[in-house]
Amino acid sequence: MKLFSVQIPELAKCSVLMRERSRVEETIHAMQRAGAGSLQVISDFDMTLTRFAHNGKRVPTTHNILDNRLLIDEDCTKKVNLLNTYYPIEIDACRTAEEKLPLMVEWWTKVHELLIQQRIRKDMLARAVEESSAMLRDGYKLFFDRLTEQQVPLLIFSAGVGDVLEEVIRQNHVFYPNVHIISNYMDFDQTGVLRAFKGQLIHTFNKREGALSHAAGLRELQGRPNVLLLGDSLGDPDHGEEMNVEETRILKVEERKESYINSFDIVCW
Ligand code: TMP
Ligand code: MG
Repeated sequence: MKLFSVQIPELAKCSVLMRERSRVEETIHAMQRAGAGSLQVISDFDMTLTRFAHNGKRVPTTHNILDNRLLIDEDCTKKVNLLNTYYPIEIDACRTAEEKLPLMVEWWTKVHELLIQQRIRKDMLARAVEESSAMLRDGYKLFFDRLTEQQVPLLIFSAGVGDVLEEVIRQNHVFYPNVHIISNYMDFDQTGVLRAFKGQLIHTFNKREGALSHAAGLRELQGRPNVLLLGDSLGDPDHGEEMNVEETRILKVEERKESYINSFDIVCW
């Protein structure tokens, strides 16, 4: 126990909750013994790799970053800001995933349709990210640098907007070759105007299917049985569930401790 808290002093903080501390310790020791060559990291993006808030203000999600006059008009801004309506549902511990699912599809579909109507231009995305207050979490540089040094694949599974997500990590200088992104990507026409979103819609509660089909195709993940899974939503622990791997689930959350502690091994709040 002492050795453990010396090695990872953060885990001794009172803001860190664990249902079964001794089992988590054993798992981490086993993962350490197996080494970097056995590890893969799967992470959510918005509010997991990015901060939830900064100086009392919410940090924008990848969707929120698109709310910029370079990309959408005032009327669209009014219609597209549905976070306050739907995010409480997404993270509501009292509703089942089955109850939430149709509402999540409704949210994402409405927003993507509104964005397509705006004829967003690809060449304006980088500026919108620059002008936004997007912010990765404290310590992100060390996290990304260490993983790339050790050649540990980092899979970012995000129900956000892939093109914006890429630009956020590019502008933070951490879009390394070990980083793989599975997200909702925009489909632009030949003139660089948004005409659709590519592939099947990814929302918070269907990440599991997306994770499975994409992970199966990634050679980098073969022979890496240990998974560190990071998320902020109760939909997130599903990512690695059927991948037949040992997982340690770490989560950032302000409240709803009880349900989170039943879903994740480590909860940081
Ligand atoms: P994530 O999977 O990387 O966390 O990204 C999904 C988040 O995006 C999810 O928590 C809700 C948020 N979101 C918005 O902020 N605005 C939107 O319009 C939509 C559809 C989702
Ligand atoms: Mg998230």
